[in-house]
Formats: sequence, structure tokens, C-alpha cells
Amino acid sequence: MTKRIAVVPGDGIGPEVIDAGMRVLEKLNGERNLGLAFTRFNWSADEYLRTGVSMPPGAMDDIRVNYDAVYLGAFGDPRIPDMKHAADILLGMRFELDLYVNYRPVKLLSDRLSPLKDKGMREIDFVIFRENTEGAYVGMGGNFKKGTQDEIAVQEDVSTRRGVERIIRYAFDFARRMGRKSVCMADKNNVMRFGGDLWLRTFEEVAAEYPDVEHFHLFVDALTMQLVRAPEMFEVIVTNNMFGDIVTDLGAALQGGLGMAASGNLHPGRVSLFEPIHGSAPKYTGQNVANPIGAILSAAMMLEYLGFGEECAAIERAVVAAIEAGETTKEIGGSLGTKAAGEAILRRLEG
Ligand code: IPM
Ligand code: MN
Repeated sequence: MTKRIAVVPGDGIGPEVIDAGMRVLEKLNGERNLGLAFTRFNWSADEYLRTGVSMPPGAMDDIRVNYDAVYLGAFGDPRIPDMKHAADILLGMRFELDLYVNYRPVKLLSDRLSPLKDKGMREIDFVIFRENTEGAYVGMGGNFKKGTQDEIAVQEDVSTRRGVERIIRYAFDFARRMGRKSVCMADKNNVMRFGGDLWLRTFEEVAAEYPDVEHFHLFVDALTMQLVRAPEMFEVIVTNNMFGDIVTDLGAALQGGLGMAASGNLHPGRVSLFEPIHGSAPKYTGQNVANPIGAILSAAMMLEYLGFGEECAAIERAVVAAIEAGETTKEIGGSLGTKAAGEAILRRLEG
């Protein structure tokens, strides 16, 4: 059965890292007959500036109906300071395709890449589930008396019982399925009383259905401290959209840097979106310096989602082997450019 994949390289370094990921995907697709069919979409800052349209009419429905996955690079361009096109495309897909699980594993692949003294692969190995369809990202709010000394800005943080419950439940299901010992929920309910109360009550109620999985709560400020002090405390973390955005950058640093981290925006059973955590990095664009690993590991995650667990594991092994050999980009200790770092992984991929 054919699996249709929409490829959306986006802006900045997006196209460079997606090229590296595509070479890996195409090699496996060719050698192992995976039946993947790729369609490229050039939605980007360039297109938006040229046409005034971020995503053509009907495109969202096309993705929803005709595709199994979206493989995305990065969005963001200094010429569009309000990120309008990124909001339409990336946040647009998260919301309109209802991709409520933002799955962001934090797994250190080599002790050498650890930024923490005395913490290595044994200690840094957990998963963050970020709620991906509500919270502060819904864009509700407004200005009053804008531009005056009396200006008021309101930015709402929205939590629904349904939205909170489904992400917490997903985290517990994952913990049970993967044999992970505990789920930590992080919020700020000592200050954000209403949303926090909903999160905490829901967490306790769902946890009661999973007596085989331990659970604990941390305020998100304490979570950031513990992630650096004692990352081995964590197996599965679940948190809201904004806190999840913040702590997953910290999580990326624990893996050796932003260039290493992969993510999946999931709605189980439906079309889902896979992207590296890093942004478009305008200042590195076209310089062949970006680390392709985050994008390649996102491709692996996509294959696993599509039912190709073997191939996902093969990519992960190739990435680890390239890191062990020091054949990587400079910021993680190698001396290669984006292309050659991608090829070092490709070469290690068993046919
Ligand atoms: C991420 C990014 C996005 C977010 C930006 C580009 C809108 O930082 O995927 O983590 O804030 O979610
Ligand atoms: Mn982010």
C-alpha cells in the first residue's frame, strides 16, 4: 500500500536539512520497497512574499484527505517579522489537522555530546509530550488603546477538559506501552489557578486509571532545574503548549544541541507531521553548516509512525555510528558540512 508523504522544506536551513533527510528516505524506499510516494510543496516565506498567499486554498483539505504524513523543515524569515506565514502553515496544520500530541524525545546518543558533567546516555533518556492544539498558542486576545501609554494587551491561555485529558492520557498510554516507569506533569498551578486546577485534577483522575505507572507533579520552574540537575528523574513528561515549547529547547540542549532534536506532531491514526525542533536559522542559510541529524531522526520517527519500525531503527543506528566516528557537523565536534554529514549517515545505512 502506498504511503503518501507531503514534503514541505520551508525557509532558511529547512531545505538543506530536508534534502539530507530525503536522501535517507529515498534510499530506504528504493532498496526496501516501502511504497512511499513524495510530493513537494514549496510553501515558504519566498512564496508568501511573491504571491501574498501562505498556503493555497484547499491545500489543508488536500493534506488531510490525501496524505499519510507531512515531512517539514523549518519556518521563519526576517522579512516577515510577525511570522504570519509560519503561523498559517505550521501552527495552521497543528490546529486544523488537530495534531494534539507534540512528541519530543530527549535521548542522548553519545556520552561525548552531553552538556552536563557526570550525566550521560543512561541519565538522559526521556520523552516530552507537549499539548499542541491549545494553551497560549490559540491566538485569543487583543489590544486596547494600542500605541498609547495606556495600552492594554491581553493574551489568553486556553485549556479545555477534552484537550488536557487527551494529551495526559496519551502520555500514560505511551508510558504503559513502552514500559516507562513514571509520568511527570508540569504546570504552574500555584499561579495560574484556573487552568492549573483543570490540569492537576485531570492528571490525578487519569493517573488513577494507570496504577502500574507512577506519577508526580512539578511546577515548571522546578522542572527546568531538575532537568539540568537530575535528568535521570524523568521517563515521560507531559505539559502544556507554551511550557512544552520552552522545556523542549532545554531538552534539545541535553541531546547535544538544537540540531539533534526530532519531533512528531501527531493525531494517532490520522495524517501527522514530522519536523526537526530547530528553526530556520536565517544566518546559517545556504552555508552548508546546519546539522542534518534532527531532520534525519524526524524522518526515522515518521517511518516508525507509518509502520516501518525496522527502518526507523536502521536510521537511528546509522546516526549513532556516524556520531561515534566523529563524522558530523562542527557544532557537535566534527568537521563536515550539512551534505557530507548527511552522506556519512547514508553510507552507514544498511541496505
Ligand atoms: C517549535 C517552534 C514553533 C513553536 C514556532 C516556530 C512557532 O518554536 O516548534 O517549537 O513555538 O511551536
Ligand atoms: Mn520551540
